[in-house]
Amino acid sequence: MNLKDCHNFSDFRILAKKKLPSPIFHYIDGAADDEITYNRNTSAFNDVDLVPNVLRGVESVDLSTTIFGKKIDLPFYCSPTALQRLFHYDGERAVGKAAKKFNTMFGVSALATVSVEEISSLIDTPKMFQFYFHKDRGLNDSCLERAKAANFDVMALTVDTITGGNRERDLRTGFTSPPKLTLSSLFSFATKPMWGINYLTKGKFELPHLQDFVKEGTSTNSSIGNYFSTMLDQSMNWNDAEKLCSKWGGHFALKGIMSVEDAKKAVDIGCTGIMVSNHGGRQLDGSRSPFDQLAEIVDAVGDKIDVICEGGFQRGTHMLKALSLGAKACAGGRLYLYALAAAGQAGVERALGQYKAELERDMKLMGCTKISDLNRNNLRFRYT
Ligand code: LAC
Repeated sequence: MNLKDCHNFSDFRILAKKKLPSPIFHYIDGAADDEITYNRNTSAFNDVDLVPNVLRGVESVDLSTTIFGKKIDLPFYCSPTALQRLFHYDGERAVGKAAKKFNTMFGVSALATVSVEEISSLIDTPKMFQFYFHKDRGLNDSCLERAKAANFDVMALTVDTITGGNRERDLRTGFTSPPKLTLSSLFSFATKPMWGINYLTKGKFELPHLQDFVKEGTSTNSSIGNYFSTMLDQSMNWNDAEKLCSKWGGHFALKGIMSVEDAKKAVDIGCTGIMVSNHGGRQLDGSRSPFDQLAEIVDAVGDKIDVICEGGFQRGTHMLKALSLGAKACAGGRLYLYALAAAGQAGVERALGQYKAELERDMKLMGCTKISDLNRNNLRFRYT
């Protein structure tokens, strides 16, 4: 199987599985506990049907939308995800350049393997920096200052990782950052020699935003669950979020909001957006899917801040449904990560291009030519 054989999300996933040592594949592919939420994030879209209109003259479709004051050409973007150089040696460089090509937002994680300065020198399109509130205040200040100096447009504070999720696949495979060989993973690394050669020869693995402050993740192996549980500040509260928001002084979002109550508080502290998200099902299993929770949050705060639906998207029609419910944009990690692992920048470009083509086709079939044409009249819920 090659890149040209990848026609959808699940094809990219299969190719990624072929290319990656199993601990790394399962780090992307896995989620918390029984992975109920992870699966529901996608299956939720199937409980809603689309009701198209016809005879509306749909020869040209405009997919652009505006989030955080920036016009982007697609109503979906690449969520920040950690450790991308483990998935492909170009890592965030590949994803950033692909996002630039489509003029959509690129999210860079605090746990990125390429620095905000380098990303900024590579792409001039909209950029978001994802921030974890660490116990180490020097680290927090440094992240904020570097992202600001690198002209990032949006700061997104992750609020759903106050402790590590129970990712049992990672426990089984022994996945850590940086990766370590264990007796049980030796075989899977040995069977993917190209990954190993690239890992060893394409530049040192680094976490440039963190490594001057903490050893975990770069010179000491740490699982992601353990990193969250030990490095992040569990006393983080609304006061801290409000202070960060005003310290940043620009567009600020909370990533991982699931309740109306919290969405309203986000407005009160000065956020300009929120990501309705359960962290791809990787934190609290049993948590509701972002799509299921979207309508009540849009109804409560959608006229005041940008509500972004994050997680579970595998198809243009999934995005169409979230946008019809009132999401300003859709976002995802696995959405492009399998494609990154499958073929680097070319893979991500192919994946983004396919979602774009699906959306264009689906918009025409719905009788819609712009995102604002999508609304709840287009939807019927099977179970209400
Ligand atoms: C994860 C973090 C790093 O879910 O976002 O693994």
